[in-house]
Amino acid sequence: MKAARLHAYGDLADIEIENIEKPEPGPDEVLIRVVSVSVNPLDRKLVQGILDDFFPLSFPYTLGTDFAGIVERSGPLATRWHPGDQVIARANPVQGGAFAEYAVVPATHIASAPANLTLEEASALPTVAGTAWQALMEVANLRSGQTVLIHAGAGGVGSIAVQLARIAGARVIATASSSGIDLVRQLGADHVINYQVEDFSDRLQDVDVVLDTVGGDTQQKSFAVLRPGGFLASIVSPPNKALAKAHDVTASYVFHETVGTRLHLIAGLCEAGSLQVIIDRKFPLVETGAAMAYLAEGHTKGKVLLVP
Ligand SMILES: NC(=O)c1ccc[n+]([C@@H]2O[C@H](COP(=O)([O-])OP(=O)(O)OC[C@H]3O[C@@H](n4cnc5c(N)ncnc54)[C@H](OP(=O)(O)O)[C@@H]3O)[C@@H](O)[C@H]2O)c1
Repeated sequence: MKAARLHAYGDLADIEIENIEKPEPGPDEVLIRVVSVSVNPLDRKLVQGILDDFFPLSFPYTLGTDFAGIVERSGPLATRWHPGDQVIARANPVQGGAFAEYAVVPATHIASAPANLTLEEASALPTVAGTAWQALMEVANLRSGQTVLIHAGAGGVGSIAVQLARIAGARVIATASSSGIDLVRQLGADHVINYQVEDFSDRLQDVDVVLDTVGGDTQQKSFAVLRPGGFLASIVSPPNKALAKAHDVTASYVFHETVGTRLHLIAGLCEAGSLQVIIDRKFPLVETGAAMAYLAEGHTKGKVLLVP
């Protein structure tokens, strides 16, 4: 089968498209024919080795975590999944394996694909929807009636976070550039701030929850818009504890962990027509490096896909 592989830490030019043996599922694993894959900023960070402390890779390494496809075969302890089932899945980043024609994942990292989405659309979901849900609902405990600021509302995580916050009954404020404003409004934001022309920290105060998907100055400035007792959840870098104390807020770094039941809840929201998937662009698997370079420009709307 074709797979996008890496033989040592490096950068996008070091990714090779190779023909390798199909993987074999272990007792609690499932072999899935990959129909579509989505690309995350994490994939490039893994290639560069900058997450080696959290995700030490063994080489050769097949890239990719997020995909949708059709079950081929299950291990004897993974009887929940049957040949022909249409599923979404997220591989553990240390194992990777999604940027290929077939992938193996633990049965617990799989959910049925939403029946009303194509498998291409469904492949966009696992990391971004899992992260947005974990950060907003489980860590920041966002509640109906609260005000939430979501940075990069047009991005992969942001475009789902805006919709989840809206479904939860929050008042949603998001940041985006001029090219993303209409999209973010259409996803349900009550108010969108163009971060290229306005400083959100001059405009906002008494926000209950901030979801930081940008880091750096954006994260630093976010402390000042929170009410005392508010919550800053960053998915980019651990927030400054001294600043959190000075502003009397709770600040947490959220590290996404795959949970099959969370994927199942997300698929249910899609089937109910409550959650849309935004696709920016599709590339063939043989152009994995080009797809990752396009995402790394930092201005995509929704998700970038790879199709084997
Ligand atoms: N901790 C975790 O477990 C976890 C999980 C998922 C993601 N992440 C991290 O979270 C970050 C975001 O991930 P993603 O998949 O959402 O990225 P993404 O899809 O690449 O984000 C692209 C979006 O960011 C927007 N943007 C860029 N600079 C901005 C700024 N200064 N203010 C507001 N918006 C800005 C762009 O909007 P314009 O085009 O309008 O500029 C674009 O729509 C990445 O660093 C990723 O590695 C962490």
